[in-house]
Amino acid sequence: MPDPAELRVVDTAAELFRAAAREFVSLASQAVKDKGRFCVALSGGSTPKKLYSLLAGSEAKAVPWDRTYFFFGDERHVPPDDPESNHRMANEAMFSKAPVPPGNIFRIHAEENATLAAEEYEDTLRKFFDLAPDQLPRFDLILLGVGPDGHTASLFPGSAALNETKRLVVANWVEKFKTDRITLTFPVLNNAAFVMFLASGSDKAGILREVFDNPAANLPSQRVRPEHGQLVWMADREAVGLLRRAS
Ligand code: 6PG
Repeated sequence: MPDPAELRVVDTAAELFRAAAREFVSLASQAVKDKGRFCVALSGGSTPKKLYSLLAGSEAKAVPWDRTYFFFGDERHVPPDDPESNHRMANEAMFSKAPVPPGNIFRIHAEENATLAAEEYEDTLRKFFDLAPDQLPRFDLILLGVGPDGHTASLFPGSAALNETKRLVVANWVEKFKTDRITLTFPVLNNAAFVMFLASGSDKAGILREVFDNPAANLPSQRVRPEHGQLVWMADREAVGLLRRAS
């Protein structure tokens, strides 16, 4: 497990998402106070849905929606209305239920050619963060999940994007799914001020044991180590059930 990682364990899934929502709000409030805006990259898949619903629900009054800018850590190579779309998931769980100015949401146009979509999103990041040619964007928060094979975002074991050291966003062929994905790269993930992994449920216990107790596994999610930022893994009791370390 990456040394600087902090593991926060709560008993239930409900407590996990409440804790994650509180952290989100805390980071958002601080960023808006310090810089006037909060830039977050959302994770996809199923785990974060409940967090997004909480943010748009009971936590809605505490989120500075007009100063929060939503990006995505990755996207499937599908149209935005496809059931597989991460944007669709976030829209159904949060955007459609919260006062988010449409201009604050930066969707990956993954319905296009994947390479072009990646280039376009990289350009969007460069413009939004006003980056010099060799500069990296620094997200205030990047939300991540972990897949059963240890992937995170769309950085899958054995995929070409694992070796990307310059680009911010790439199209990444995922052999196991026989499809392209569009994903932020490790340089961007590891330049974040705060990275929060969320893991919930017993089906994550096996991969969390690999991630935390088998450094030699060299899994993509183990390579997320913000150089000048905080790394926090938030998990419920079921997800850490197989860990050696006391948690
Ligand atoms: C995606 C995510 C991916 C996800 C993991 C875990 O596009 O699917 O970015 O990295 O976080 O696969 O997915 P679950 O939360 O569904 O277990």
